Amino acid sequence: MATIEYVLGDITEQHVDVIVNAANSSLLGGGGVDGAIHRKGGPEILAECRELRAGHYGGGLKTGQAVATTAGRLPARWVVHTVGPVWSASEDRSELLADCHRNSLRVAAELGAASVAFPAISTGIYRWPVESAAQIARAAVADAPVELVRFVLFDRTAYEAYAR
Ligand code: APR
Repeated sequence: MATIEYVLGDITEQHVDVIVNAANSSLLGGGGVDGAIHRKGGPEILAECRELRAGHYGGGLKTGQAVATTAGRLPARWVVHTVGPVWSASEDRSELLADCHRNSLRVAAELGAASVAFPAISTGIYRWPVESAAQIARAAVADAPVELVRFVLFDRTAYEAYAR
């Protein structure tokens, strides 16, 4: 059973094996946590993302899937990029949000990672209500195949939703 932790903080500063990026299907960067990871991690991460796009991921990364790159200059060893679903009031996309967490953990375990940090995937630009995202994320990591899962929440509202 993995230990689950909740911290208020910046995911780019985490000393863990893997940090998960809330990316988009292009894998070529964006705002929010994605922007912060590329900014602080440096150009090596984007270079590997471009290689992925030139190879197996020519059509982009599908929602719910996950893929790893170097973490560049970050303290983590790898970044696992996943694409969360955009919130929809008319369609239940919860399984896709759960898939992001499960597939990220699977990729991390395949790398040999023992510790994985997640941001609050989909709760920013993709507008998923944070209370709902927290429930889905926590359930999805319940039998994680790693030793430590750390949710790194960027603001107090998200921290309270996840840590409750
Ligand atoms: N550390 C931890 N969490 C962060 C950080 C950070 N440095 N920066 C932002 N966050 C938080 C936000 O506050 C939000 O709670 O990450 C959560 C997810 O927000 P977004 O980064 O907007 O991710 P998401 O909602 O999944 O939208 C993905 O945004 O950046 C683009 O390329 C990305 O198009 C994709 C979309």
